[in-house]
Parts: sequence; C-alpha cells; structure tokens
Amino acid sequence: MVFSLSKARLRSWQMSDTESLARYANNRKIWRNVRDRFPHPYTLADAEAYISTTQSDELLISLAIEVGGEAVGCVSLKRGQDVARLSAEIGFWLGEPFWGRGIITEAMERLVEEGFDAHGLQRIYAYVFEWNLASSRTLVKAGFVQEGCLRRSAIKDGQIIDQYLFARITQD
Ligand SMILES: CC(C)(COP(=O)(O)OP(=O)(O)OC[C@H]1O[C@@H](n2cnc3c(N)ncnc32)[C@H](O)[C@@H]1OP(=O)(O)O)[C@@H](O)C(=O)NCCC(=O)NCCS
Repeated sequence: MVFSLSKARLRSWQMSDTESLARYANNRKIWRNVRDRFPHPYTLADAEAYISTTQSDELLISLAIEVGGEAVGCVSLKRGQDVARLSAEIGFWLGEPFWGRGIITEAMERLVEEGFDAHGLQRIYAYVFEWNLASSRTLVKAGFVQEGCLRRSAIKDGQIIDQYLFARITQD
C-alpha cells in the first residue's frame, strides 16, 4: 500500500525502518500523549517488534509516514471486533522535527478515506488526553467531531486525567 501526499508518502513498514522508527519514537513528548504500551525509552528491539506486529496483526493497518526517504512517523487503524467490527481506532504520531507542517493531518485524511472506502469501516475514533491540544486540533482539521469527555478515564505519567472522544463516521 503506497499513497503519495503533498509532503510525504504513506507506505507499509519494512524491517529496514527499525533504526529511524526507534530514533523518532524515542521521545518523551510523544510517549506522554500515547498509551503506556508505547515504550519509553524506545529501543531498536521495540521498533523491530512493532514492525513485526504490523505484518502479522490482521486487525491493524499501520503505515509509515516517509519523508526524505526515512520513516518519521506513523498512522494506523486498529479495527474492532464482534459488534464493533466496522469501527476502528486511529493512532498517529510524528517525529518532532516534522511537527507543524500539516503532514499528519493530510496522512490522517488519506487513511480515513482508505478505511471508509476500501475497508468498509463506518466509524473511526480516537481518545485524546486532556492536555493534548495539538492532537485535538489535527483531528478537527481531519473532519473528526468531539463526541464526549470521558472524565478521569486514564492515568498517564502519574496523573489521573480526562480523555476526549473524537470520531468521524462515513456520513460526516
Ligand atoms: C499530534 C501531532 C501528531 C501533531 O503533529 P503536527 O505536525 O503538529 O500536526 P499539524 O501540523 O498537522 O497540525 C497541528 C495543529 O495543532 C495546532 N497546535 C499545535 N500545538 C498546539 C497547542 N499547544 N495548542 C493548540 N493548538 C496547537 C497547530 O497550530 C496546528 O493547527 P493549525 O494548522 O490550525 O495551526 C504531534 O504533535 C505528535 O506526534 N504528538 C505526539 C503523539 C500524539 O499526540 N498522538 C496522538 C495521540 S491521540
């Protein structure tokens, strides 16, 4: 799967991305805004394990964001199961040197389109930590709507926090 965007390319992960994945993912500012299963520090072994997962997990569509020939970030869809099988959670992060250029918003828009058109999804959603204004903004720019606030629903970095639920459905 390869998509050309205006400032980046989206493509499948390859084992040769291990080094760049570990380098850009190894950032506390990224870790602080994602689930704890995203490791910190982020080692080469962690990168290798993640790339293997992208190749074996049938519910996961994970694409590398490639800029200047290297993988500098990730956009993903994790499909639900049972009655939630037409829904997916979107995940995204970008290497800090590339922030503020609109790369992630365009990547999210493209992946959402793929999720709806090629994979038959009806709903794509994300949970955002209360302090993550950049993520909320990118989701709104990518057409997501804030559906609610899940009060005191997460513990991150030693703090109990609210999470905002954002979603986009096919009719939006
Ligand atoms: C979220 C993330 C991907 C955004 O990347 P980015 O390159 O800055 O995204 P974009 O340039 O496409 O858009 C960012 C928007 O947020 C805005 N923004 C950035 N920081 C902000 C802040 N502190 N308060 C309010 N808005 C903010 C920017 O101004 C921009 O909006 P604009 O285009 O209207 O000016 C990046 O910060 C990241 O990787 N964060 C860590 C991982 C993460 O949070 N993942 C999402 C988990 S739900």
